[in-house]
Amino acid sequence: MEDILVCLAWPYANGDLHVGHIAGCYLPADIFARYQRLKGNRVVMLSGSDAHGTPIVVKADKEGKTPREVFEYYHQRFIETQLKLGISYDLFTHTDTQNHIALGQEMFRRLLKNGYLYPEKQKQLYSERQGKFLPDRLVEGTCPMCGYERARGDQCDQCGALLDGTQLINPRSRNYPDDVLTIRESEQYMWNLPALRDAVLAYLADKDSYWRSTVTEFSRSYARTMEPRAFTRDLTWGIPIPVEGAEGKCIYVWWEALLGYLSATIEWAKLVGQPEAWESFWYNPNAKIYNFIGKDNILFHTVLWPAILIGMRNLDEEDSPRRFTLPYDVPANQYLNLGGQKFSKSLGVSLEALDLTHKFGPDALRFYLSSILPETRDADWSWTEFAQRNNSELLAKWGNLILRVLSQIWRNFEGRIPKPEAFTASDHALLERVDAAFDQIGAKLDAVRLREALFDTLELATAVNQYLDHEAPWKTIKTDRARAGTQLYVAACAIDALTLLFAPFTPHLSEAARKQLGYTTPIFGEQYVQTVEEAGGYTHDVLRYDASRASGRWAPSRLAPGQPLGGEPRGLVQRIEVPAELG
Ligand code: MF3
Ligand code: ZN
Repeated sequence: MEDILVCLAWPYANGDLHVGHIAGCYLPADIFARYQRLKGNRVVMLSGSDAHGTPIVVKADKEGKTPREVFEYYHQRFIETQLKLGISYDLFTHTDTQNHIALGQEMFRRLLKNGYLYPEKQKQLYSERQGKFLPDRLVEGTCPMCGYERARGDQCDQCGALLDGTQLINPRSRNYPDDVLTIRESEQYMWNLPALRDAVLAYLADKDSYWRSTVTEFSRSYARTMEPRAFTRDLTWGIPIPVEGAEGKCIYVWWEALLGYLSATIEWAKLVGQPEAWESFWYNPNAKIYNFIGKDNILFHTVLWPAILIGMRNLDEEDSPRRFTLPYDVPANQYLNLGGQKFSKSLGVSLEALDLTHKFGPDALRFYLSSILPETRDADWSWTEFAQRNNSELLAKWGNLILRVLSQIWRNFEGRIPKPEAFTASDHALLERVDAAFDQIGAKLDAVRLREALFDTLELATAVNQYLDHEAPWKTIKTDRARAGTQLYVAACAIDALTLLFAPFTPHLSEAARKQLGYTTPIFGEQYVQTVEEAGGYTHDVLRYDASRASGRWAPSRLAPGQPLGGEPRGLVQRIEVPAELG
């Protein structure tokens, strides 16, 4: 049994989750976590709302609200969306909890004590019009690395370089074209990244065998040349630094958001009543920590987060030899676009995940997105393809297969799984193929090649359909009832296995199919919302997962003859018609 921590990028709580987020990070992580749970591993899946920093402040300014109002609104929307979509977090929390804020300050103290932070006057872009230092995100200019003209002050979206506002060529204010930007000095705590270079490069050294080569190379070349970066910002919406006389300075939002992976594990451990349980991930060199992210977040997770963990060393009172576990894999995805463009609300078509889930149900969306996960290249959302994949694959190959077999059993065998006679060569061949699929498809899921795993599963469903077409139990029943019973038994066993093989991708459908097969316990645990109380009467809602009734296992099995079906079978997958103007 392995200890597997599945970490998902923390979404900024300043806008709804759209299908690009879901395909890029949340769905792949959920597929992976569900599969690992079925395998019997100890899995904890975590994330939360990224509540602090400029992105939230900017949104609040625009809407005339406080940052707290903005983040609390979107936090609730994230919870609702992911609950409906079945993103099965052990904990989805946020970064404005007391637990997280305290740990953020501890991170600062430890990095300072270990010699990785130092104060320095820093040149920063100052907005004369607004009378304040301009946050990096509100600066735009030409990227000094690739020449892209609309690079932001924190990052270039074209080449992925991490930048400082002052590095931009021709910097200008994003919101006010007539703003005059000057350079002024402000004292910040700087992060001595060069001092962590060797340790980070050593961490990256053994990743070639299983990381995507683009990710390893990109990360190493950044680490080789990285310079000190500001650890703090002049901003009040965030975690105040624990230094006297440093009012108005906060930890830069990225560094504390990354720390969320650790603080959320600690919060989870308290919630499950085993306050030390986080150590089995973070102080266990054999634990596997996966960070599911989009490609714009790569360097933060492959270089800067390891640098934080190495710099902090541990959370022990006295210096001890314990060291934090570093990420095992960072399966970074490319983008899902819309008509070749990045997602943008102004396009007029809502592709918010919550809305689509309401309209089409969670699994139609999960199925289509799983089939186009941008694992190796950018993908594009297409309404026509959405309907087509649903109707000609999920419905025709899988939903109808279940209905076809179970309704024959319902009609001709008194609604009980028939008792088989001796198997023919073709029965054996099908069931052997189905049994072998657990290892074959499992290997792809372990390697986070999720799309391929889905296509293999669909192929297996096709093989079961072909078996049925060939055996035609609906004909056999007229002349040889016992043989028809064997054929239907074999097909039902294959369906039983397919409910598990499909389960990471389309869990709601699999649960419903297993009820029809007569199972009374669910494959997976149950998601729920919990209100957590903190000192001072402050409360926050979190998403959690109760695994106590989960009974699914990633392994071949055989249905018990005589098992009664769970009622008259009905179709579990609906057809989707896409309105003409969208297709
Ligand atoms: N909030 C960031 C974004 O939406 C992602 C933060 S990931 C974390 O791009 F690891 F830092 F949490
Ligand atoms: Zn660039």
